[in-house]
Amino acid sequence: MSTIPPLAQRPAWAALQAHHARIAPRHLRELFAADPARGERLACEAAGIYLDYSKNRIDDETLRLLRQLAEQSGLRARIDAMFSGEKINVTENRAVLHVALRAPRGASIRVDGHDVVPDVHAVLDAMSGFAQRVRSGAWLGHTGKRVRHVINIGIGGSDLGPVMACEALRHYSARDLSLRFVSNVDGTDFTEAVHGLDPAETLFIVASKTFTTQETMANAHSARAWALAAFGGDAAAVAKHFVAVSTNAAAVTQFGIAAANMFGFWDWVGGRYSMGSAIGLSTMLAIGPEAFRELLAGFHEMDEHFRTAPFERNLPVLMGLLAVWYADFFGAQTIAVLPYDQYLKRFPAYLQQLTMESTGKQVTLDGAPVGADTGAVYWGEPGTNGQHSFYQLIHQGTRLIPCDFIAFGRTLNPLGRHHELLLANVFAQGEALAFGKTPQELRAEGVAESLVPHRTFPGNRPSNTLLLERLTPAALGKLVALYEHSVFTQGAVWGINCFDQWGVELGKVLAKRIEPELGAAEPVLAHDSSTNALIRRWRRLRDGA
Ligand code: F6P
Repeated sequence: MSTIPPLAQRPAWAALQAHHARIAPRHLRELFAADPARGERLACEAAGIYLDYSKNRIDDETLRLLRQLAEQSGLRARIDAMFSGEKINVTENRAVLHVALRAPRGASIRVDGHDVVPDVHAVLDAMSGFAQRVRSGAWLGHTGKRVRHVINIGIGGSDLGPVMACEALRHYSARDLSLRFVSNVDGTDFTEAVHGLDPAETLFIVASKTFTTQETMANAHSARAWALAAFGGDAAAVAKHFVAVSTNAAAVTQFGIAAANMFGFWDWVGGRYSMGSAIGLSTMLAIGPEAFRELLAGFHEMDEHFRTAPFERNLPVLMGLLAVWYADFFGAQTIAVLPYDQYLKRFPAYLQQLTMESTGKQVTLDGAPVGADTGAVYWGEPGTNGQHSFYQLIHQGTRLIPCDFIAFGRTLNPLGRHHELLLANVFAQGEALAFGKTPQELRAEGVAESLVPHRTFPGNRPSNTLLLERLTPAALGKLVALYEHSVFTQGAVWGINCFDQWGVELGKVLAKRIEPELGAAEPVLAHDSSTNALIRRWRRLRDGA
């Protein structure tokens, strides 16, 4: 049983409620006018990331109370428990040690008395050897051709991290190796992924922690059939064209992939926290082992910052507490993540699993109702594209949508003044959201009175801006770890388990029950009337009846 009192009984919670009533009516214009240094004061730099959080609906008192809330929620002890390998994933009785995946050689982190760091590095070394062989052309396919195409088959955490990272780090990737990803059980995904490919030049990575996930197994079996069809059904080809990433060695062998071609990880790595594990094999193939190690070093730098920095200068803690502030005191339901870098176009999608599978919980570790709203919906698109789409609602809609802007000092693709234009836009958006445009300003500009309400920008819309020097592998690692630990901070305040995902189970079970009902002959259907009707209608569509 936890010794942390329920949220409502933590003194800082009540104090924040009273404080919210005082600060909510204050406009950011007013807060900035009262403190000309605010823009530099409410900023923090660590691990090469500059966080400007001055455009938030906060003052020093808010920050003090939020820090108190973190302390009264036992955040410090939770951090120590995670880093020391305690089984903080209590519903699955597992340690939570994605931080061990990024620990340097020589560090020591124990689970049940066993030091896991040497295991981590042994797998990284095996991955590096394999990646080098594939990238150099030493690894040959069944007919003696080198690998030109790599297809990662996986879903959720076994897909989104590699998809995002391969896109984010495309600048660093071997351009003579194409990387593709298959996740959806919709046959279109597989069919399009292999379109035009020569099986003799194609390598599949079957990535699944459990090696039982329906979608991944269906796609893996289709991939094997596709490959073997090209090799006259010679099952020996599997060894040259399939490798696996999993914690389930028995199921991998049963599939026909040799143990030597399996890269393992461990039950203390959650799917959505696994991109630094062997799940990152496709990323390593794309960018090479050295750059992959730089990515891990970036993660580690942020891990250490999170573990050691005082809360007032701790980037993930600040961001996590601000997320709680808006979700629970302003009733904000979503947070927009807006990277001003085209390479980060899949970053918001990646964050959706990281954040929402982690904080989409309604009960505390003890099974009691949380007593407050949890997990915001994270969403977003790269700027400037989003500006011509959904930003309208963020600027003038009726909902409060805190935004995280992400930008880089230097572009990887200098092209005329494109980068200055990009940066001018990200700075302008934060400014417009915070300060808006008043009716008086519009009238002074001679705007017709009938248009004044339409053209007014209320402002007072909060944002963080994250500025990094350049999108390097290390920078990406830092950014991902920043959000991982922000989620951890939110979870600690809410007292929830960020590391299980029981909410995905029911749909899986029901799909298994329905699948046999979709065969040729209609069985007796015993679902609700809506589900029964949908199944019958689908049968008619399928049969052209
Ligand atoms: O269904 C959700 C989930 O369990 C995710 O948490 C996980 O990342 C994904 O499925 C894939 O699981 P696996 O790697 O075991 O195939």
